[in-house]
Amino acid sequence: MNSSINGNCCNIADKDKSCCTIDANKKINIKEHWNRVYLNSPVNKLGWYETDHAPMMKLILKTGLNKSARIAIAGAGSTTLVDELLDRGYSNIVATDISEVSLQDLKSRIGNDKIEFIVDDLTKPIKLKNILPVDLWIDRAVLHFFIEEADQNAYFALLKSKIRSEGFVILAEYNLDGAKHCAGLPVCRFSKEILMEKLGENFKLVSSFEHIYTMPSGAKRPYIYALFKFL
Ligand SMILES: C[S@@+](CC[C@H](N)C(=O)[O-])C[C@H]1O[C@@H](n2cnc3c(N)ncnc32)[C@H](O)[C@@H]1O
Repeated sequence: MNSSINGNCCNIADKDKSCCTIDANKKINIKEHWNRVYLNSPVNKLGWYETDHAPMMKLILKTGLNKSARIAIAGAGSTTLVDELLDRGYSNIVATDISEVSLQDLKSRIGNDKIEFIVDDLTKPIKLKNILPVDLWIDRAVLHFFIEEADQNAYFALLKSKIRSEGFVILAEYNLDGAKHCAGLPVCRFSKEILMEKLGENFKLVSSFEHIYTMPSGAKRPYIYALFKFL
């Protein structure tokens, strides 16, 4: 991996490097940060809350996976994508997040026994290292928070170790025109080419599109959605 990874993940035409640099003095406890975010706001007011999962479902349906396929939702938070998948009959879902507050919220909404819940750090996985491989890995608005090369490497190593042969990955992240901060944190931005490079040659791009997400506040956030198949 090239050492300018943080430069690659940003819009490098942008001279303001704030999207991918973080002042060492401002390093924070990420777990506490996210727990506070979920404690301080109703879920439906969060800047990434959505009930229209059409863009994600478009890619999920493209996989052709059946309803018993094992699906990991990385950095799931309290996403209503879980409700949507359960409503559609998907029955083998793992929701994982660093924030136990967000997963508790999800649990209270959908029930304890419908899916598997795992509190863990995607960049320093412990429990996640031991989960069974999955047919589909879904990440919406999580990878873009990993602005350090080491964190990205750890995340992709975990992802690659957990996808079954012929399995799929969906990454939906801020695109190159995306915001530079979210939830009080700096973020990276991605194109499908950058995502392809990160995944490596064993993953084939199946489909991708740009999507403008509208936040509860009405503000717009441009995303890149991309579906990859593990060969
Ligand atoms: C912007 S939210 C997106 C939540 C969800 N994917 C959605 O679309 O509604 C980012 C999520 O990533 C989680 N997260 C951030 N850093 C993480 C890490 N290192 N490991 C696991 N989850 C993390 C946060 O707790 C939060 O739930």
